[in-house]
Amino acid sequence: MSQKVSLSRYLVEEQRSKGMIPAQLRLLLEVVARACKSISHAVNKGALGDIMGSADIENVQGEIQKKLDIIANEVLIEANEWGGHLAAMASEEMETIHLVPNRYPQGEYLLMFDPLDGSSNIDVNVSIGTIFSVLKKAEDSDSISEKDFLQPGLQQVAAGYCVYGPQTTLVLTVGDGVAMFTLDREQGSFVLTQENVKVPEDTKEFAINMSNMRHWDAPVKRYVDECLQGKDGVRGKDFNMRWIASMVADVHRILTRGGVFMYPWDKREPHKAGKLRLMYEANPMSWLIEQAGGAATNGRQRILELQPSQLHERVSVILGSKNEVERITRYHLEK
Ligand code: AHG
Ligand code: MN
Ligand code: MN
Repeated sequence: MSQKVSLSRYLVEEQRSKGMIPAQLRLLLEVVARACKSISHAVNKGALGDIMGSADIENVQGEIQKKLDIIANEVLIEANEWGGHLAAMASEEMETIHLVPNRYPQGEYLLMFDPLDGSSNIDVNVSIGTIFSVLKKAEDSDSISEKDFLQPGLQQVAAGYCVYGPQTTLVLTVGDGVAMFTLDREQGSFVLTQENVKVPEDTKEFAINMSNMRHWDAPVKRYVDECLQGKDGVRGKDFNMRWIASMVADVHRILTRGGVFMYPWDKREPHKAGKLRLMYEANPMSWLIEQAGGAATNGRQRILELQPSQLHERVSVILGSKNEVERITRYHLEK
């Protein structure tokens, strides 16, 4: 029987033989994985733990927080603040950045996360997840502020997510392709289950919240209309549609079997660039998708090249199988 490779061993090899990551980053990723394990345990308790339902508090995004949004945020902060690898953290659930308290040593990394993605699915027992992204602070930066975080996605040094579904799976990139690790609950560790993940260039599957159709911009409408015409239309093939309403779960499906995911700008709130957040959702997912051979744009530009101007900035997202993303981007540019 071939030997199982744990996440720890995978990271040690990325550090030692491939020189992809420094030791401090390896330790940081181990801590993030440990926090995800603990969130996974909380998720699994469901109604037996005090994790379901609303906390009745509004977050900085103007959304009502669920109890699990708050629990997951606390787990990530508590796990990460004392290890000495981080300078600061930022979360979708916190208005301002969280500095490492003075009583702990400060490291050189910046960690960003969406502690609980797909909150509307918690109470109905559908897959949810945690998304994270790691940046390095600028060398000349002594006192950390929000500005240190405003780096384009191309500067990420690690990114990933953990999906809490029928299995708990951690998906990671450090710029050396995408690897997937399944949580072995008996051993309590993440085990490498897939390396060199590749997104097929073509697909017959798209993911979008169709109830927003009347609010879409013309290029998105054109693309989806053509998919719906199936064999009888210009695409000459039938398409299937999936929408889980957890970006983590939708992206996980695309990394597994291809597809295209869209949460485009729409006319409901025209002043907002989109619904999803650039720093906590779009950047980490775009890097994973690109590392797996897919593409990610906001309809016009590559997401990873966007210069953020605010921590909680929103963005229009189109990502997945390369040829489909290029087609949708072309429709936008033609317009
Ligand atoms: P979050 O739970 O972190 O606020 O994110 C939810 C996001 C994303 O995961 C998902 O794709 C989308 O919102 C679902 O939106 P709709 O409810 O409009 O379908
Ligand atoms: Mn989210
Ligand atoms: Mn969230």
